[in-house]
Amino acid sequence: MSPDPLISPHLTTITIAGEEVDGLIIDPVSSLVITIGATVPVQPPSVFPVCNATDCPIFTGTKYTQTVTFLLNATLPPSYQIDLTIGNINSSSPQMSFLHDEILACAMATVS
Ligand SMILES: *[C@@H]1O[C@H](CO)[C@@H](O)[C@H](O)[C@H]1NC(C)=O
Ligand SMILES: *[C@@H]1O[C@H](CO)[C@@H](O)[C@H](O)[C@H]1NC(C)=O
Ligand SMILES: *[C@@H]1O[C@H](CO)[C@@H](O)[C@H](O)[C@H]1NC(C)=O
Repeated sequence: MSPDPLISPHLTTITIAGEEVDGLIIDPVSSLVITIGATVPVQPPSVFPVCNATDCPIFTGTKYTQTVTFLLNATLPPSYQIDLTIGNINSSSPQMSFLHDEILACAMATVS
C-alpha cells in the first residue's frame, strides 16, 4: 500500500497477491472491492475488474497479483479499517453486492 499510512486527499496504490484455490474467479464479473471506513465507508467503495489484470479464469493453484490505484479524498477518522474483497458482482443488484453474497478472497487492516 502506498502511501502507508494513507493520506487524504492522495492517489492510493494497493497491490494484492494470492493463490487461487477454488477456480471461481471468472471474467468479467470478478471484482476487487476496496472499502475504507469505520462504521460507514468514508467514500464509495473502489471497484476494479480482476480479469483486467490477469488471464481468467484463474485456475486452482495459480498465483496472481494485481495493482490498483484510486483517489482517496475523504476525511479519515482516527481509527478505520481497510477492507479488500474479491467476489463476482451481481449485476442485478443495485448495491453491487456479490453473487450469493460469496466472498472469494479477502484481507483487512485496522488503522488506529
Ligand atoms: C482495464 O485495463 C485497461 C488496459 O490496461 C485500462 O486502460 C482500463 O482503465 C482498465 N479498466 C479498469 C476499469 O480498471
Ligand atoms: C476532494 O474533494 C473536494 C470536495 O468534494 C474537492 O473540492 C477536491 O477538488 C477533491 N480533491 C481532489 C484531489 O480531487
Ligand atoms: C442478485 O441480486 C438480485 C437483486 O438484489 C437478487 O434478487 C438475487 O437473488 C441476486 N442473485 C444472486 C445469485 O445472489
